[in-house]
Amino acid sequence: MTTTTAAKPKAGLEDTVATSSAICYLDGDRGVLAYCGYDIHDLARHATFEEVCFLLWHRRLPTRAELGDLQSQLVAARPLPEPVLRLMRQLPPGNAMDALRTLTSALGHYDADANDNSQPANYRKAVRLTAQISSLVATLGRVNAGQGPIAPDPVLSHAANFLYMLTGERPSSLATRAFDVALILHADHELNASTFAARVAAATLTDIHSAIVAAVGTLKGPLHGGANADVMRLLLDIGADAPLEKAEEVVRAKLARKEKIPGFGHRVYHTEDPRATHLRQMSRDLGQRAGQPIWYEMSQRIEALVKSEKKLNANVDFYSASTYHALGIPVDLFTPIFAVSRISGWTAHVLEQYANNRLIRPRADYIGPEYPQRYVPLDAR
Ligand SMILES: CC(C)(COP(=O)(O)OP(=O)(O)OC[C@H]1O[C@@H](n2cnc3c(N)ncnc32)[C@H](O)[C@@H]1OP(=O)(O)O)[C@@H](O)C(=O)NCCC(=O)NCCS
Repeated sequence: MTTTTAAKPKAGLEDTVATSSAICYLDGDRGVLAYCGYDIHDLARHATFEEVCFLLWHRRLPTRAELGDLQSQLVAARPLPEPVLRLMRQLPPGNAMDALRTLTSALGHYDADANDNSQPANYRKAVRLTAQISSLVATLGRVNAGQGPIAPDPVLSHAANFLYMLTGERPSSLATRAFDVALILHADHELNASTFAARVAAATLTDIHSAIVAAVGTLKGPLHGGANADVMRLLLDIGADAPLEKAEEVVRAKLARKEKIPGFGHRVYHTEDPRATHLRQMSRDLGQRAGQPIWYEMSQRIEALVKSEKKLNANVDFYSASTYHALGIPVDLFTPIFAVSRISGWTAHVLEQYANNRLIRPRADYIGPEYPQRYVPLDAR
């Protein structure tokens, strides 16, 4: 007789409530996303990424003095440890997310609080990781392009400093604000796969770097953060010089082959992803400014087609692709950039998990061979 003590799970844990959290509110039917009660549209219009970090970590907006303190802490943590930079240069060329995963792990070895799992130490590590992952990704972009690293500029904001460390040029206020908004939009999203991975790891009371490494590895997948790079590859394959009808042909053919179109569909939203609303506009404005409206136009055609054929909405990854492209960011860095932002949410969730922890250890619905099977000795099989 086979014994199954657990109930049948919903595939992919759809709609399963796995924890209580005070960080992110999502209403998939109304298209609402709010961090600690603050609507994402208000934050995207008025806040800075640094304010959002404070909000996620403290559950309230900072005073001017508190924001200044946090900015100073982030600036102080921007330079990367020299051995981590050396390791970066030694890694074989390849997927930037693989490098980010390895280098995030390496950061743990050189953290001043490496052996301290207390709340104050973990908060300091959350701040440091947020600053360092930004420096890591910008520097990775340079090293992968055969260029030397650029030292951080302490007078620049988090968003502007990232673009500066990547390109070596002080970004325009339009580019800085666009990137700042992109960081705000990606900062947290409740129990998305990478955040859940981080919480499961943290719930064993392992260290914060280990939890973040789990999150980075999870974000890499094409069903999660990897989709933004896949969107841009799709657009580039169609080609800037092709007529817009070609975009429709290519997507129709994919749908006919039952392939998924990157950047569409969402487990939680049954309506427009509120982040896509901002990114669509940013893609249009930045594409026009860059003299390359084609990527936005092509994206619009694809969006209309997928909506009419499959009733699927664009998600956060669809228009972030053409937005990042217009900012001059290489495709290989698109998913790492997701981590530059989401590190704020990951660390907020890890801190929340530590603060009220119980090991996360669910059950499986057993569907294997009938129990008991008779053990047959090796010689008799
Ligand atoms: C996000 C995603 C993983 C959600 O997955 P999910 O909730 O498990 O939904 P499913 O994969 O079960 O999809 C349900 C149906 O919609 C279809 N579908 C979902 N996303 C699709 C897409 N992007 N393109 C085409 N069809 C899609 C599925 O083929 C399936 O159709 P079926 O019922 O006829 O088999 C999924 O929509 C997807 O793979 N999107 C593309 C990758 C992406 O953009 N990821 C970033 C998410 S923010």
